Amino acid sequence: MSVDQVTVAYGNRPPVLRDVTLSAEPGRIVAISGRSGAGKTTLLSTIAGLLRPSDGTVTVDGERLGDRDHAVAQGIVLVPQGNGLATFLTAGENLEVALLANGRTPSDARRLTVESLDRLGLSGQRNQLVEELSGGQQQRTAIARGLALRGDVLLADEVTSELDAVSRQTVLDLLRAEADRGAAVVFATHDPEAAAVCDAELHLVDGRAELVRTEPISTDQDRNGNGKAKSGQAGQARVGAGAHRLDQPPSA
Ligand SMILES: Nc1ncnc2c1ncn2[C@@H]1O[C@H](COP(=O)(O)OP(=O)(O)OP(=O)(O)O)[C@@H](O)[C@H]1O
Ligand SMILES: [Mg+2]
Repeated sequence: MSVDQVTVAYGNRPPVLRDVTLSAEPGRIVAISGRSGAGKTTLLSTIAGLLRPSDGTVTVDGERLGDRDHAVAQGIVLVPQGNGLATFLTAGENLEVALLANGRTPSDARRLTVESLDRLGLSGQRNQLVEELSGGQQQRTAIARGLALRGDVLLADEVTSELDAVSRQTVLDLLRAEADRGAAVVFATHDPEAAAVCDAELHLVDGRAELVRTEPISTDQDRNGNGKAKSGQAGQARVGAGAHRLDQPPSA
């Protein structure tokens, strides 16, 4: 999936995104970081086919993206900020309805629902109304729904904002598992630690994009602090002590 020099405005207002370019590949997680109001949700909504750029293109598998229905047909799954769950349905029903709408058989939908809720530690909440769940449980239900859909592109908008440290790590591990399954994952977050575990990072400032890095951070450096990079990873940009932006020289 690629976003090429995209400009997005709401109505006749000044653009919220200007000339943003991004590439997301199967097997990788790219973080979209930036402060509140920087345009992260707007970017994900554009990739999801919910907003149409006034300039530039979004392409998936070389095909120009159309509306939301086209995005769904292209396997683009959005876990929206604020969850987007039907609060008068149970957690399980929220997943099953989405899976049935996605063309799964009832028995498949049920099996995937059970599996996906279990991965998020929500087996006990399957038959509980969403409005009776805690904020974190609701957020995990929305993630379970997104994972159950097994998209080719997974757009995850602030999906760790309500979670404790253990649940956050579980969700980050699940995003990694999605990438390992072959999905291209785009993860909007204002959490620098969550962004740091992604393979690449695009930072938005007032709707303009700065590419922070295109490679994963070397984990040996971070864990051991001995500066010894994993073989094959030498020379990669690092967040933390050795971080640099690509628009600055590494020595800056
Ligand atoms: N529906 C809308 N109509 C008009 N302006 C909007 C709309 N949605 C968002 N905006 C504006 O677009 C800008 C970017 O908003 P966006 O929600 O994309 O930011 P964000 O980076 O996701 O912020 P947050 O971290 O708070 O979720 C903001 O100035 C916001 O006011
Ligand atoms: Mg947002």
